[in-house]
Amino acid sequence: MALEFSERIARLPRYPVAGGYAEQAPPVRLASNESPYPPLPAVREAIERALGELNRYPDPSNALLRRRLSERYGIAPARIAIGNGSCDILLAAGEALLEPEAELVYAWPSFSVYPHLGAASGARAVTVALDAEDRHDLPAMLREITVATRLVIVCNPNNPTSTAIELREIADFLDQVPAHVCVLVDEAYCEFNLLDDPDASVDLLDHHPNLVLLRTFSKVHGLCGLRVGFALCGSEQLPRALDQVRQPFFCNALAQAAAVEALAHQDAVIDRVARNVAERISVDERLRALGLTPARSQANFCWVRLGEREQVGEREEADVVAGLRERGVLVRAGSALGEPGALRVTYGTPQENERFLRALAETL
Ligand SMILES: Cc1ncc(COP(=O)(O)O)c(C=O)c1O
Repeated sequence: MALEFSERIARLPRYPVAGGYAEQAPPVRLASNESPYPPLPAVREAIERALGELNRYPDPSNALLRRRLSERYGIAPARIAIGNGSCDILLAAGEALLEPEAELVYAWPSFSVYPHLGAASGARAVTVALDAEDRHDLPAMLREITVATRLVIVCNPNNPTSTAIELREIADFLDQVPAHVCVLVDEAYCEFNLLDDPDASVDLLDHHPNLVLLRTFSKVHGLCGLRVGFALCGSEQLPRALDQVRQPFFCNALAQAAAVEALAHQDAVIDRVARNVAERISVDERLRALGLTPARSQANFCWVRLGEREQVGEREEADVVAGLRERGVLVRAGSALGEPGALRVTYGTPQENERFLRALAETL
């Protein structure tokens, strides 16, 4: 007898898996926008110190981590939410805010988890096309907001297109969004964005109680294997509601210890960003030399169309992805992200990038 599932299961999309976890994963893994650098020695030591307490449940209130984030960003601990990765906060926000008859608005293509929010809640998802430069079109998004809208997501820099919009545009947008709408700016990659100081968006929180900045330790801090993210919120309302919809102990003890330690090493963040940006400049230049036109990346990855829109189909894209894989390089296919005919490639170490570029030149 087949199991009978809820009607939701038929609606829910599956998260695309990069195929990087199998035993025979290619050695150069550029498909998941991870950091190429391992955790800092001090962070490893903090994890080791926390190991001896694993017979105890983790602090369910994440008090120390929220205090450190409060000191770092100048936001009261009650306005900070922690999550089992920032994805956890995203999904919980969907659960807390959305229901059938409600609406959510986000750009497309954007982060592949956003469609889950509408599918899981039964809310109507309104997607807004990016502009000609693959950036968020905030005026068009504003036009889609109605009395039924509960949540608007702005991914900045945007995954998968790597592009960012200026904070000035987001500030103008926030001034026009009705106060009942939660605006969640997903800043998973904000440290790599050179258009604005990543701390500048935090100032907007004091003027917009409906604003949420979603951040993560997965990218620039290189801790995605542990799962820890956070949200800085304009008010205490969302953190409270998130705790109502989630299981207790959602952030494990090792993740809390590692995140607290990671925050004490901002100099390492700056160093890693500098190295990543140097690779970004060099990889993008060499992609252009191959006749490709990468989007203007402000992230730790690039977005490259393999030809003019509509001319390159899934077949050609699959051939290139397979060619790279044969040469030991794993990248993410655009078709897995809702945009066939493109590649999303994380910037790795100089050696990894060299290997990717050589493999790409041969494959093309
Ligand atoms: C835009 C964006 N937001 C959020 C996340 C989730 O990150 P995590 O759950 O690891 O914090 C990702 C991961 O790739 C992402 O690309």
